[in-house]
Amino acid sequence: MTEDTPVRGLVEALTLEETARLVSGTTDPTGRATGYLAGVERLDVPPLCMVDGPLGVRIPDESATAFPAPIALAATFDDELAREHGAALGRETRAAGADVLLAPGTNLIRVPQGGRNFEYFSEDPVSSAATAASVVEGIESEGVIATPKHYVANGQETDRAAVSAEVDERALRELYLPSFRAAVAAGAGSVMSAYNRVNGTRMSDHRRLLTDVLKEEWGFDGYVVSDWYGTESAVDAATAGLDVEMPGVPMAETSDATAGDGDDDDAPASDDPIPPEIARGMPDPETCEPFDEALPAAVRNGSLPRERLDDMATRVLRTMDRAGVLDGDRSPVEADAEAHRRTAFEVATRGSVLLKNEGALPLPAAADVALVGPAVDEAVLGGGGSAETTPETSTAPREGLEARADGAVTVVPGHPPIEGVSMLDLLTDEEGEKDNVDATDTDAADAVDATDTDSDGDAASDDLAVDVDSAVAAAEAADVAVVVVRDTTTEALDRDGLGLPGSQDELIEAVAAAADRTVVTVAASGPVELPWRGAVDAVLVNWYPGQVHGDALAALLYGDVDPGGRLPVTFAPASAYPTADRRRFPGVDGRVSHDEGVLVGYRWFDARDLEPTYPFGHGRSYAEFEYRDASLEGVRRGDGDDGDDVAVTATLANVADRDGREVVQTYVRPPDVAGVDRPAREFAGAESVAVAAGERETVTVRLDDLAFSRYDPEDGWTVDAGEYVVEVGRSARDARLELTVER
Ligand code: BGC
Repeated sequence: MTEDTPVRGLVEALTLEETARLVSGTTDPTGRATGYLAGVERLDVPPLCMVDGPLGVRIPDESATAFPAPIALAATFDDELAREHGAALGRETRAAGADVLLAPGTNLIRVPQGGRNFEYFSEDPVSSAATAASVVEGIESEGVIATPKHYVANGQETDRAAVSAEVDERALRELYLPSFRAAVAAGAGSVMSAYNRVNGTRMSDHRRLLTDVLKEEWGFDGYVVSDWYGTESAVDAATAGLDVEMPGVPMAETSDATAGDGDDDDAPASDDPIPPEIARGMPDPETCEPFDEALPAAVRNGSLPRERLDDMATRVLRTMDRAGVLDGDRSPVEADAEAHRRTAFEVATRGSVLLKNEGALPLPAAADVALVGPAVDEAVLGGGGSAETTPETSTAPREGLEARADGAVTVVPGHPPIEGVSMLDLLTDEEGEKDNVDATDTDAADAVDATDTDSDGDAASDDLAVDVDSAVAAAEAADVAVVVVRDTTTEALDRDGLGLPGSQDELIEAVAAAADRTVVTVAASGPVELPWRGAVDAVLVNWYPGQVHGDALAALLYGDVDPGGRLPVTFAPASAYPTADRRRFPGVDGRVSHDEGVLVGYRWFDARDLEPTYPFGHGRSYAEFEYRDASLEGVRRGDGDDGDDVAVTATLANVADRDGREVVQTYVRPPDVAGVDRPAREFAGAESVAVAAGERETVTVRLDDLAFSRYDPEDGWTVDAGEYVVEVGRSARDARLELTVER
């Protein structure tokens, strides 16, 4: 390839030591980067600067747009918006002087209480893949290298570096790999390997998945970077297909193990031991072998072929070259903070899901509002860990509502603040002990109970009673009570369950009993249990909305915008998911059985005939829609491929007297084939469409072969002959029209 010509010349000119150094992480002399490759000054190869993460650029002591959590983006079911979001992330990365964004997070949401669900997209592989591909396209369109992570089957945080995901080939292919494959096809220049093992092998050493599948089968020619401190034997990892080791320096020498403090570039962030629940299974930082020390020796003694090391360097240089980093002439760009705030607002509103509305919303502008709940005074920016961002400005729900309301807004939180859990706090706990976290029995409830009480909650209950009384009084006096609640979560820990922390459930119940109308808005990392939902008039889930929390909430509540989101995850009690079985989560003896196979998320609820609280795809508009006149036609794929895709077209009529937005969803039900078990239905694609009051729009969703395929361990992707039913509708449990197609 001609594009490799300058790269080839460089690789030939590198000494053995220089080649190994080029692929070894090291400390950024400025202390800004999360990950840093120093380049080769002698040959004018510039450094490569990597920053986190999926919710926005994270650099110590610097601000950036705090975007809504990726799960909100997935809830928009809008690829165009995902691309715009990715481009904004990419532009901020460039503007910060960095070259690589350690995003998007493309793990499938398998465990509803997974600590990083907010960083990921969906429980469904097709929706996850579509969002991942669009975000990657957006990031790369700004000359920034995207890094889909964590490859692969990193579905839980509990013992994340120790556990082995025991998963069969079909589930890997149908569920866990598609979003990575789509991200690679969309042009991702790098892929981050996960901490966990898959079927017994550490992912940074997983030759079959790194080399055979990712590189050879999918044709990925960028570089694979390890997760931070995720490698053990340098030679094993390099042999298996890992190309870059991060961070490449012992933990005590980095400015920060996971979330930089940036206070003093020369000093270690902390001498405290890493809490065992975070460190368990991580390679020992004292004994793990830095690439730059181990690899030259391995080449000399014949345990690593020089060609492999050269290939590692080629992949790094090629990716730098494509992104325009190599010519050392990256013109500085500026990030338009106001434009990015608008993008963040669009994602936050379009991703918010109205689960229930019995006439309480939109609020009349003149209504007197009692604003209650622990999250009224802060924008919920995200979960803890490497995705933490620092915005220049943010609006809290209180500010948003006060600015928008014509009626009175009486603010009575009625509950102590729920502080987010920061992984950084866990790492720097002065006691060196986690008195409030016990990951052995994953009793993280105490960790997230910011009421700071003992487990009975005695200390706080008196205070709370007083607060609840005044909240209840305010709710009684107002036209409507708006209760703003939240969950809290962090990288490195899973949530204890799906309940809201503290006494938020009790607060909602007390308010609902007193108020004429009660609206609950939930800032959530993923599924949450809503035991009071029958007692309230409306429930709006707005995930972690980021810096625009207050503005977005006010616009939604007063109906300035339609809630455009639909659930990318099933909502149900924790006990109803397949992962309620300890073998499947958090695993037994270090092994996490995935023997639910392809029955993750709504597929499980279909197979077991279980009624979810709210199904995948569910979400209401303020308008009302009718689905009419669906049809199917074969569409030539082109590009030398003589197969047909299927275009599903339906007419959507907005029969309300207000504008609205609908997400038209398609699901495929396969034919019965002897000896073949398949999910009852699989999501196949969706289109988000705005329809003006009284108008109609024609919507087309294109289904490719994968929508009809299953993965056969012997024959690969297989389309069984027979009649497939295509459902067109509003959720996995709400088909409005059905069509059939022969394949
Ligand atoms: C996380 C990655 C992150 C990296 C660098 C790791 O702990 O798993 O997602 O990009 O740290 O901060």
